[in-house]
Amino acid sequence: MERNRSNHTPKAIIHHLLLFFIFSIFSLLDCLVAQELVGYGYKVKSVKSDSSGKTLTANLDLIKSTSVYGPDIPNLKLYASYETKERLRIRITDSNHQRWEIPQNILPRQTPQKSPHSVPINDLVFTLHNTTPFGFTVTRRSSNDVVFDTTPNPSDPSSIFVFKDQYLQLSSCLPKSRSSLYGLGEHTKSSFKLQANQTLTLWNADIGSVNPDLNLYGSHPFYMDVRSASNDGKVKAGTTHGVLLLNSNGMDVNYSGDRVTYKVIGGVVDLYIFSGPTPELVMEQYTELIGRPAPMPYWSFGFHQCRYGYKNVADIEGVVAGYAKARIPLEVMWTDIDYMDAYKDFTLDPINFPLDKMQNFTNTLHRNGQKYVLILDPGISVNESYGTYIRGKQADIYIKRDGIPYLGNVWPGNVYFPDFVHPRSEQFWANEIKIFQHLLPFDGLWLDMNEVSNFITSPPTPHSTLDDPPYKINDSGVQRPIISKTVPASAIHFGNITEYNVHNLYGFLESKATRQGLIDVTGKRPFILTRSTFVSSGKYTAHWTGDNAAQWSDLAYTIPGILNFGLFGVPMVGADICGFSGNTTEELCRRWIQLGAFYPFSRDHSDKNSIRQELYLWDSVAASARKVLGLRYRLLPLFYTSMYQAHKNGTPIARPLFFSFPEDIRTYEINSQFLIGKGVMVSPVLKPGVNSVDAYFPAGNWFDLFNYSRSVSVDSGKYVTLDAPPDHINVHVREGNILAMQGEALTTEAARKTAFELLVVISSGGKSTGEVFLDDGEEVEMGGEGGKWSLVKFYCGAENGSVFLSSKVENGGFALSQKWIIDKVTFIGLQRVDGLEGFAFNITKGAKSKGKSVIKTNFHSNKRFVLVEIDRVSLPIGKEFELELRLKQDTGENTL
Ligand code: NOJ
Repeated sequence: MERNRSNHTPKAIIHHLLLFFIFSIFSLLDCLVAQELVGYGYKVKSVKSDSSGKTLTANLDLIKSTSVYGPDIPNLKLYASYETKERLRIRITDSNHQRWEIPQNILPRQTPQKSPHSVPINDLVFTLHNTTPFGFTVTRRSSNDVVFDTTPNPSDPSSIFVFKDQYLQLSSCLPKSRSSLYGLGEHTKSSFKLQANQTLTLWNADIGSVNPDLNLYGSHPFYMDVRSASNDGKVKAGTTHGVLLLNSNGMDVNYSGDRVTYKVIGGVVDLYIFSGPTPELVMEQYTELIGRPAPMPYWSFGFHQCRYGYKNVADIEGVVAGYAKARIPLEVMWTDIDYMDAYKDFTLDPINFPLDKMQNFTNTLHRNGQKYVLILDPGISVNESYGTYIRGKQADIYIKRDGIPYLGNVWPGNVYFPDFVHPRSEQFWANEIKIFQHLLPFDGLWLDMNEVSNFITSPPTPHSTLDDPPYKINDSGVQRPIISKTVPASAIHFGNITEYNVHNLYGFLESKATRQGLIDVTGKRPFILTRSTFVSSGKYTAHWTGDNAAQWSDLAYTIPGILNFGLFGVPMVGADICGFSGNTTEELCRRWIQLGAFYPFSRDHSDKNSIRQELYLWDSVAASARKVLGLRYRLLPLFYTSMYQAHKNGTPIARPLFFSFPEDIRTYEINSQFLIGKGVMVSPVLKPGVNSVDAYFPAGNWFDLFNYSRSVSVDSGKYVTLDAPPDHINVHVREGNILAMQGEALTTEAARKTAFELLVVISSGGKSTGEVFLDDGEEVEMGGEGGKWSLVKFYCGAENGSVFLSSKVENGGFALSQKWIIDKVTFIGLQRVDGLEGFAFNITKGAKSKGKSVIKTNFHSNKRFVLVEIDRVSLPIGKEFELELRLKQDTGENTL
């Protein structure tokens, strides 16, 4: 589908395609008929393209039927369209019958309101090949690089396009040596980059994340493909595109290294390709379609403590007191299902967690600037004396099978599951949240078991191809029947929609309903943590990686896990710190909090059968926690500004190194380091008994955030062995960044009251930049129209021996109203030059601070750099300023 060119009529395209047809028809068919095949593919019957050249429609006819996995669908329609400048959509469905597709009202796909004629030229070129069988390719206009290639390969049956009622097969060939794939989750992986020769199954299941390579709680049929340079030099290393197969049915995705093959048990082919060409732009384009990540409240970036098995109110009060006594920041106290009366949602155990004590507990937390989050499970206990159950029954919103509510079994025993597809369920759920919130003013909700998890497996309906489809996806790694330990696929949702089709959407829809319910009752920005997710969940919720174990391997898995969710548009993500199941150890817990302090979502959580693991229980863990959480709290403005960037542009908070260094191909393999924002790099220890870490440093000067006078400089990327004594994690900031930091504190509320320090990391070859987003942290919208927020951008560059630092402020009023000031400016990475005696500075715009400010100069331990600290500058952050730092040649005063 060449773009609109004056001489490029639809007729010309067909003509062009027909030429292709003559080339290929015989050789392919000859090979194919010889084999026992799932399908023989389709041929193009007719093609038409609209006058703009932005959309193409083709009719496809089946070549020959096979009966493997059921009969083929005889006639298909293929639609290809450029929906935006960077997005190509290819949709293939049955010409004669409507099939299941995720409805727009369930998952709105955002398309900018432009007529296709006004969509500017796209770098992606769609070509339909009139071969037998047909295929299509997507290439880059700029380089001819092949992005997606479904051309059938006669010697590989999995390359044939197949479309049956319960089996779709779509395959794309990849340039093995140049393509690095990321995504296609949710799975526990030791490697972030997908390794060749594996099957990635997508079917939401309550399978603990301790199990590598199995289908877990969520489904995200999205990958990012980062290419290394092509031999002809036309493709630059780091050129990236994204691919989403928007389909909610169960699937296996086979990845061989040079081919990715989707084997899907329903729905349609709805393929979106995002042209990038950088990882950041792919995220922007992907989240433009599926919705930008929900903003999270400021407080949710504080440290959280949870456990399954807290006994009573005194127990949780003791934990809060333990943190206070150890002077370790604790922002949020959580309760697991223990607080409930017989595990019934929206109830309290009258003996161990009675209402009056829980109200008192919550109010005390609030008085201390702390928060309380509680768990909810979707299964509603079947119990005629239970209000929630009765109201659900009256509203008739439970999932049904054979015309009656489907009976499952979870913690409370027998349960019915609310059907979140039902339009009335949102209201039902919101009302339950409201009633309970009015009793107990909790601050956030944790949605567990929503795959949906069921302790029983109900027998399949006889002869049901839904409960027992012909193609067995690799559920749980053993082709377990898809009805195992969940709601059976033949169960029915509102509108006669089968569980078979919406199974993977359950947790996503529950999160959506919960978000609306929380906004209705609190009027504030909600905090929701969900276990089960789907495409677009990030628009409503945060996620944790589920039930890991207190093992070193699991500590390492958390990095690929977290990075993947960044790619899935769920940037607020963390893993259970110190490990969920099994007994942690002092050393593991210490190393885990060192890393976990830099997860976007930072929570310690453990199983009731494990030993206690609150951070204050071991002196060495407590000391490390104070140190690393101290840095986290100083970096809260960075975490929060990264949240803002995620919400505005889809960029993850925790990012793979290749986001900032796409041209450095060695970053593609990294599994054990990540960035916060664009320039802070975390390099944790992931093994027992070691006191050093081999960390990869992309080119540049990097400065230790715990000790600015320690640095690592590399001309081109390389591994460097760093000291990592028991109490230390390496966290470096790269040259070229400006960080707005605040002071350490025990709560985010207290940290927000401290003055700012600007850390300016001088760039050796250009400008340094940074930004900080400020609002009240709980307004529903983040950075919305007319909102109360400020955005401050910082710039720094050198000229004629002086360094100039300045700010640009958008909506300064809010920051000024909060009286936030920058009290200190620290320059690091200034090159030491001969004859340098010191520095002087001058504020040329903004506040006058003459007479108060103090300037101090230090030399780095390696003597290469100079560190300059200017204290007591007293610059209102909401007001633009300019500051000049001059080199002093004489030994005069250092105080201005
Ligand atoms: C399973 C969850 O993954 C875990 O975090 C929780 O503690 C238990 N359910 C009990 O609610």
